Amino acid sequence: METKILKPTKQNILLAAQLLAKGELVAIPTETVYGLAANALEEQAVQKIFTAKGRPQDNPLISHIANMDMLSMVNADVCEDCYKLASAFWPGPLTMIMKKSTLVAPSVCAGLQTAAVRMPSHPVAREIIQIAGVPLAAPSANISGRPSPTDAQTTMYDLQGKIPLVIDGGACEVGLESTVISLCNDTPVLLRPGVITVEQIENVLHKPVVVSNAVLNALQKDEKAQSPGLKYKHYAPKANVVMVEGPFDAFKKYVAEHTQAGTFCLCFDGEETQLHTPCVCYGNEDNPVMQAQKLFSALRQLDKQQAINVYARAPQKDGVSMAVYNRLLRAAAFQVVEAKQC
Ligand code: TXA
Ligand code: MG
Repeated sequence: METKILKPTKQNILLAAQLLAKGELVAIPTETVYGLAANALEEQAVQKIFTAKGRPQDNPLISHIANMDMLSMVNADVCEDCYKLASAFWPGPLTMIMKKSTLVAPSVCAGLQTAAVRMPSHPVAREIIQIAGVPLAAPSANISGRPSPTDAQTTMYDLQGKIPLVIDGGACEVGLESTVISLCNDTPVLLRPGVITVEQIENVLHKPVVVSNAVLNALQKDEKAQSPGLKYKHYAPKANVVMVEGPFDAFKKYVAEHTQAGTFCLCFDGEETQLHTPCVCYGNEDNPVMQAQKLFSALRQLDKQQAINVYARAPQKDGVSMAVYNRLLRAAAFQVVEAKQC
């Protein structure tokens, strides 16, 4: 199949919506990462997503809506907390999980009784959903297990030949996927951190949010994932990545002792001048929003440079950094070492 890559003109947005209405897949820009979209109400269309990505069938998808009228197509029994969070953060990078509707295609929910929903803020995404007139199921537009694409070229790299169309809306503003929160019980549970933080959600709901154990730790042997996506290796470049905790001086010493042919550092901006190992940078140490924007493209960059081993500087674990830490931890397949200062 030939894959077209087109700018989001009025005509091309219409073409995208028409393809989606016909049951085809289209990769679309969102403010977080590029999404691989299909009509969320059509089982056969949704199945194409799993085939194109090589996604495990038990990993459910997020449905994207353009307005509040579409919410009932995805979810039943919408709760008060959802309305509060929607008025604070939608359109934007927050996904909520609630009971599923009877309309949504079964494989969107991967056999669960719940469905994930978000209203993206990217104007092109919203226009395409609006014209298609149905919620769009859209996981990140990468081959399963690879870093999510934050521009159209990277989307093409993964999906060329597998889908008819990529809409090129430029680079994604956020760079990491949405915050995912389950509202299935009275106490909200954070399943995936994003740039909308636990503190921001707690401030709106006036109650504590539980952070799922799998967000910052590897699942224990017999532990069941609250979100199926938490159990898979994710965001992994081809290299073996190890996250190195500790201050920069200790990192520097650790890397000097462990550098071999093909070793790279994934470090913060400015640190590369002090390291004697090839480096890829992912933003300022004290700017997690910038780290979020750059992390996935930095991981892809390491592949391009054929890195074999990567030692990564560890981000903080709170606020927006929690999202950066969560993605890097998975890219590192949970390999973390502590570098000690001498
Ligand atoms: O920012 C985003 O959310 C992007 C853009 C394209 O919108 N989409 C995205 O989708 O990241 P995906 O499929 O890569 O991640 C969806 C996550 C997975 O971890 C999945 O397991 C979880 O949401 N999820 C979806 N439905 C769920 C449900 N009913 N219960 C628990 N977890 C669910
Ligand atoms: Mg994904």
